[in-house]
Amino acid sequence: KQISIIGVPMDFGQMRRGVDMGPSAIRYAGVVDRLENLHYEIDDLGDIEISRPEKLDKLSEGNLRNLKAVAEGNTKLAKKIDEAINADTFPLVFGGDHSIAIGTLAGVAKHYNNLGVIWYDAHGDLNTAESSPSGNIHGMPLAVSLGLGHPTLTEIAGYGPKVKPENIVIIGARSLDEGEKILIKELGIKVYTMHEIDRIGMTKVMEETISYLKDRTDGVHLSLDLDGLDPHDAPGVGTPVIGGISYRESHLAMEMLAEAGVITSAEFVEVNPILDERNKTASVAVALMGSLFGEKLL
Ligand code: ARG
Ligand code: MN
Ligand code: MN
Ligand code: MN
Repeated sequence: KQISIIGVPMDFGQMRRGVDMGPSAIRYAGVVDRLENLHYEIDDLGDIEISRPEKLDKLSEGNLRNLKAVAEGNTKLAKKIDEAINADTFPLVFGGDHSIAIGTLAGVAKHYNNLGVIWYDAHGDLNTAESSPSGNIHGMPLAVSLGLGHPTLTEIAGYGPKVKPENIVIIGARSLDEGEKILIKELGIKVYTMHEIDRIGMTKVMEETISYLKDRTDGVHLSLDLDGLDPHDAPGVGTPVIGGISYRESHLAMEMLAEAGVITSAEFVEVNPILDERNKTASVAVALMGSLFGEKLL
């Protein structure tokens, strides 16, 4: 199968500059060779053009920082993703901050009746303008995809919602805002926090996740925020949270997804080379992609 790589140099969904260089950092860490060695045909479509607003919002009214720039970039991304799927290729997206999941899911979801989503992240990204402590849209993409939030975001690609709460599994959560906790309970979203990962182990977490999603979905998107990993293993992220998923646990998760053959699109986001140590986080992202696409240790 052919993989279409799409870079999204977006950094307007949060306040720390540098995450727009994530796609370059991931390419530089050798992703194309790595996947070609697994006998995939790789088509690197380059980067989506993200236009820089004249001045960045300090905090726009409505508590949605850089709403226009984020919406524009995601509209372009959704179209690119749609084309990649129409061409029967696997869309593999490199961020950029996590606000780009809005566009990825907008492009992916219309191709499925019941798209599953694995949200691998320290955060829930379930805020709305009303609940967000920061106004940063990278803390909102999962809510937006559920149809919650400003219509400029929820209606990207001309339809919404993109996903149903019962088709989502969050893995690695350890920093949830009050409004997010309420929403998770209200909507009954399945969440494996670090507590469950510690308690039952990643093997069980992934077995349960895979069988849960297999039964109810016709495709599964993996949205992997590198801050889901422990900052020791992935230091180059804008919002690190101590006590995260380890490097090996993450490989195990990717290996089990590869074995199950359930993933139909993926994105790796929040790689910020300015905050990184010698491109370590991009290298980890590439190693995890290797496992996701079937690399074996022996
Ligand atoms: N919950 C916080 C917020 O809404 C942090 C979100 C971090 N999101 C991320 N994709 N790194 O601002
Ligand atoms: Mn090409
Ligand atoms: Mn996060
Ligand atoms: Mn995130």
